Amino acid sequence: AAGAAPIGIDDIELSTTHHVVALDDFAEANGTDPAKFHLGLGQDEFSFPAPDEDIVTMAAAAVAPIIERSGTEGIRTMLFATESGTDQSKAAGMAVHSLLGLPSQMRIVEVKEACYSATAALQAAVGIVTRAPEHRVLVIASDVARYELDTPGEPTQGAGAVAMLVSANPKLLEIEPVSGLNSADVDDFWRPNDSSTAIVDGALSVTAYLDALTGAWTDLQDQGGPSIDEIDRVLYHQPFTKMAKKAQVHLAGLTGAQLDTEIVAGAGAEAGAAGAAGDSAGAGAASVAPEASAGPRDTGLATSTLYNRRLGNSYTASLYAGLCALLDNDADLTGKRIGLFSYGSGSVGEFFTARVVPGYDQYTRRQAVTAALEARVPLSIDAYRALHSTELPSAEDVSTPKVTAGPFRFAGIRGRARIYERA
Ligand code: HMG
Repeated sequence: AAGAAPIGIDDIELSTTHHVVALDDFAEANGTDPAKFHLGLGQDEFSFPAPDEDIVTMAAAAVAPIIERSGTEGIRTMLFATESGTDQSKAAGMAVHSLLGLPSQMRIVEVKEACYSATAALQAAVGIVTRAPEHRVLVIASDVARYELDTPGEPTQGAGAVAMLVSANPKLLEIEPVSGLNSADVDDFWRPNDSSTAIVDGALSVTAYLDALTGAWTDLQDQGGPSIDEIDRVLYHQPFTKMAKKAQVHLAGLTGAQLDTEIVAGAGAEAGAAGAAGDSAGAGAASVAPEASAGPRDTGLATSTLYNRRLGNSYTASLYAGLCALLDNDADLTGKRIGLFSYGSGSVGEFFTARVVPGYDQYTRRQAVTAALEARVPLSIDAYRALHSTELPSAEDVSTPKVTAGPFRFAGIRGRARIYERA
């Protein structure tokens, strides 16, 4: 039977790739105004994998510090959420399990529904721990966002992984039981089995996202969930951070609440600080408006975009990278309620809430994430385009070049199976 102990996120880690592409370089190469990316999309850079990196190497890098900190006791389930699967049959989590030497007494599966599935995995994890409060569940979200070259989606590419440990009496976030849900069959974005890049109807995807927000928010209210006035911070799936602004404006319209709509920290910065946007994000310096000031209420919108502006879209991981940014950079979240809107094309939306546990701020990742973002090796646009076009043949035995400075690498293909190793 369900005990009274709260259940939620006990630990969380973010990892990304070896390479980065600067959207300033991208703009110059394409003859585009860089403000289109910094202000129009709210993006400064995107992470790009080296040939020996993929969802498994990023996932293992995110899980490793969690296991180092808290061991494996009680971890009997790993749920791996991704839409960049490397195999139609075998779960990517098997390779993570083996790279980290995790115990055999585990169930491991992969879950899929575009960017949404990490939230389904998180809710399933809460359910498992509700039944067996001594168990802990690893939830992994790892993705590489790839669009075809020279398409509108290209500057919104990115890559990253977030790993979360779900347990009873969590140290960071207690997930509340009420969720607002919305599913609708829509072809706004998908990736057919024979394609390494996504197909997207950009305009439709934006309206489908906002429709899902309406549906999920309405259901949250119908289910007796908290009103907008009872929610202190709001996080959104961020395919590009300007989308979070669009969502916030939409939610303000739905609720009549006055909410912050600036995605660059500091009032008015969005109107004139294209060049500075990357720098302020790089320093991780969120200057959040005081809670009591007149006008729109600070819900952490700008703070939540600090990492994603530099990662690009990380699909399943994106909402949780926003969570990391908020936890690491908000002035004080103690006891605050966060609303989280998860969206996956195709489409599913879920709006749920969580309470921040006192003492959460002892566990900041700010230094480590900033260092990882800074350590990425820039790719020239020519090098990036060449790498983008390189498809690794899965029919032959091949070795991948050693490039990544990360802790794990994809070594190549042998007998059509993917091989991973510690770097
Ligand atoms: P686009 O061609 O860049 O669109 O495509 P645009 O020309 O309308 O420009 C975008 C914005 O930049 C506009 O502002 C322009 O005004 C502004 P908005 O009207 O949106 O407020 N702009 C400028 N601003 C300042 N200075 C300038 C300037 N020039 C223009 N000089 C699109 C945009 C989103 C369609 C494209 O990037 C795309 O296709 N992206 C991929 C799809 C996507 O991310 N959709 C989001 C919702 S779906 C989702 O979130 C799910 C997803 O994550 C996948 C999953 O679930 O697995 C994608």
